[in-house]
Amino acid sequence: MAESTKSATLTIDGKSYELPIFSPTAGPDVIDIRKLYAEADVFTYDPGFTSTASCDSTITFIDGGKGELLHRGYPIDQLAEKSHYLEVCYLLLYGELPTAAQLEDFESRVTHHTMVHEQMHKFYSGFRRDAHPMAIMVGVVGAMSAFYHDSTDISDPWQREVASIRMIAKMPTIAAMAFKYTIGQPFVYPRNDLDYASNFLRMCFAVPAQEYEVNPILSRAMDRIFTLHADHEQNASTSTVRLASSSGANPFASIAAGIACLWGPAHGGANQACLEMLQEIGTVDRIPEFIARAKDKDDPFRLMGFGHRVYKNFDPRATVMKQSADEVLDLLGVEDNPILQVAKELEKQALNDPYFADKKLFPNVDFYSGIILEAMGFPTSMFTPIFALSRTVGWISQWKEMISDPTMKIGRPRQLYTGETQRNYVEVEDR
Ligand code: SDX
Repeated sequence: MAESTKSATLTIDGKSYELPIFSPTAGPDVIDIRKLYAEADVFTYDPGFTSTASCDSTITFIDGGKGELLHRGYPIDQLAEKSHYLEVCYLLLYGELPTAAQLEDFESRVTHHTMVHEQMHKFYSGFRRDAHPMAIMVGVVGAMSAFYHDSTDISDPWQREVASIRMIAKMPTIAAMAFKYTIGQPFVYPRNDLDYASNFLRMCFAVPAQEYEVNPILSRAMDRIFTLHADHEQNASTSTVRLASSSGANPFASIAAGIACLWGPAHGGANQACLEMLQEIGTVDRIPEFIARAKDKDDPFRLMGFGHRVYKNFDPRATVMKQSADEVLDLLGVEDNPILQVAKELEKQALNDPYFADKKLFPNVDFYSGIILEAMGFPTSMFTPIFALSRTVGWISQWKEMISDPTMKIGRPRQLYTGETQRNYVEVEDR
C-alpha cells in the first residue's frame, strides 16, 4: 500500500475528521475512508462507483483523459504490435515480460491444459441448440468447479496457480465447443502443435470432412483481438469477479459470475449489439436518423460501441482495432465492406456532433471489433464469448492479486436507505 503523506479534513456538524490521502504511482490521489463510518457514523454515497477506488492494484492503469492504457506499465499499442496474447498473459499474471525460457515453459503449460474433462462434453447436450453461447459458457465454466476439485482451495498458492493455467488454457476450448454445439457440428479437439489463436480458430471452423489450414492473417488478427481485451482495471465484470471471490468462492464460480456480468450490452455485450446496430443502419444515408435517436432523451437508444465510463478520449484499443479492421478486411479481400464504411462514417459524423463532443463520447473497444470478427466468419453471438475468453486472464490476474493480499476482506457495501421505518404487522382482515 502507498504511504500517506497528506490528509483531507471532513467537517460534519462542526466536528472535523482527518482522512489520510494516498498518492498512487499514476492517476488521482485517493482518500482513505475506511474508518469514516466507525468515527463519524456516516457512509459515503457513490452508486455506480464513479468516484470510488475499490482496491489498490499494480496490474493495469488507464488514463481516461489521455486515452492511455498500460499493462504493468507497457502501453497497449506496443503490446498489440510487438507482443502476443500468451506473452501478455504472462505479463499480467506475473508482473514482468518473460525471458525466452519462461515464455516457452508458460506456453507449454497452457498448451498442455487445453482439453476439458471428457465428461463435460455431455454437459453441453443439456442446452437447446439455439442457446446463446454466453449462456452455455456461464454454465460450463461454473461447472468446472465440479470437475477440478484439486484446484478450488484458494488458500493454497499452488492450487491458485493450477486454476489460473486451467482457466486460461480451457476457455478457448469451452467457447469453441459452445459455438460448435449451437451450429450442430461436432466438437473439435485442441491440438498441441498450434499456437493459442490458431488452435481456437481451428476448434471453431474445422470439420471432420476435410483438413483445416489456419490462415496466418486470421490467427494474427485473432491473437491481437485477444490481447486488446485482456484486462481493463476495475471494470464491471472484473469487479464482479473480485466481489464474488472475496467470499472465498472458488475461481471457476467467480469467473462464471464475471462472464455473466460481461454479457450485458452496456459492457462486453456491446460488440454484438454494435454490429447489429451497424447492420440495422445498413447504409450511410441512414446515419443521421440513428444519431438523432442517440441524442434523444426520450429514446433509450444509444450508439453501441460509443462512450466509456473512464475514457473521455479515444479508447486506445479502438484505435488499434480500427487499423486492424482495415488490414484484415483488405488482406481478406473484403473490399468496400459496407458495414465498415457505415462504421467509419458514423464515427466521423458522431465525433463532429456537439452532443458527442461535449459529452466526450468516443468509439470504444467494441466499435470495430465486431467488423473484424464477422469478416473472420464468426456469428454475432460469438463476439462476447470471444471477449470473455480474452478477458479471462484479466479476471484471473486481478483475482490472484486480491486473494494473495493478506488484508483481503469480504466485499460488503452499505446503502442509503429510503424505505419505510419500523411499523407493526397488520392482520389481513384489518388491511
Ligand atoms: C466496455 O469499464 C470498462 O473498462 C469496460 C470495457 C472493458 O474493457 O472492460 O472497456 C468494455 O464495456 C466498453 C463499453 C461498451 N458499451 C457500449 O458501447 C454501450 C454504449 N455505451 C454506453 O452505454 C455508455 O457510454 C457506457 C455504459 C459505456 C458508460 O456509461 P456511463 O459512464 O454510466 O455514462 P453515462 O451513461 O452516465 O453517460 C453520460 C452521458 C449521458 O447523457 P446525460 O444523462 O449526461 O445527458 O452520455 C450519454 C448518456 O446518455 N451517453 C450516450 C452514450 N453513452 C453515454 N449517448 C448516446 N450514445 C452512447 N453510446
